Amino acid sequence: MSKITVSTLNKMKAEKNKITALTAYDASFAKLFHDNGVEVILVGDSLGMVLQGGDDTLGVTNQDIAYHTRCVRAGSRELFVIADMPFMTYSSPNDTCKNAAELMRAGANMVKLEGGEWLFESIEALTQQGIPVCGHLGLTPQSVHVFGGFKVQGRAEEQALKIIADAKALEAAGAQLLVLECIPSALAKRVTDALTIPTIGIGAGNTTDGQILVMHDLVGISAGFIPKFSKNFLLETGNMPEAVKKYCTDVKSGAFPSAEHEFK
Ligand code: KIV
Ligand code: NA
Repeated sequence: MSKITVSTLNKMKAEKNKITALTAYDASFAKLFHDNGVEVILVGDSLGMVLQGGDDTLGVTNQDIAYHTRCVRAGSRELFVIADMPFMTYSSPNDTCKNAAELMRAGANMVKLEGGEWLFESIEALTQQGIPVCGHLGLTPQSVHVFGGFKVQGRAEEQALKIIADAKALEAAGAQLLVLECIPSALAKRVTDALTIPTIGIGAGNTTDGQILVMHDLVGISAGFIPKFSKNFLLETGNMPEAVKKYCTDVKSGAFPSAEHEFK
């Protein structure tokens, strides 16, 4: 697979060629995923749950993400790697730039921040200084205690309009990619149509420009809760490379996610 860049991702949106993404936290899985068709790797702060066993992502530090980004990057020079900025590491533009720089030096190609319009200045500062940004709207897990649980977001029209306005603000600030998590599929389509940058969905239906899953969910080994939007691809394929390939072909064809994995 040739090297993926932000230009590739834009081209893929334009050509309606779905972007395949998975989380990974180490070199071996990152390489396996890349070798079997995954185009984007996210070093997600989901590692606070699936690696560290936490109830949420709030305990993850910038050092944790930098460490795992280094591990993932060691898997291949060719990977397009997004590194999550952890809880409270981007509360001011200065902190944001300092912490994002550490993740870029660890091998990231882009950093991801959770939140809307309030991030405008930070995203502008990051992109001006050469750090590409991925936004994240809908169910933003670092705000789980504000939401009162891991709940679908954007069901009320007022909330939906806020998400669309936030998405436009992120794009205007310079964000080059946007993750949409756990929102109704119809809203994900409205957001995707309103933007020129690509959207990557998780629990957001199959009209986004790409899909992402937490790797542990893809193979059905998440400790605890398995979300409605995920699918165990290991069950029907029997081995890891085939499970990854099947995920990628199903994302490309639009077969995954199907109606049973989406929120109305
Ligand atoms: O941390 C993570 O794995 C994520 C994805 C679920 C998008 O943010
Ligand atoms: Na995350």
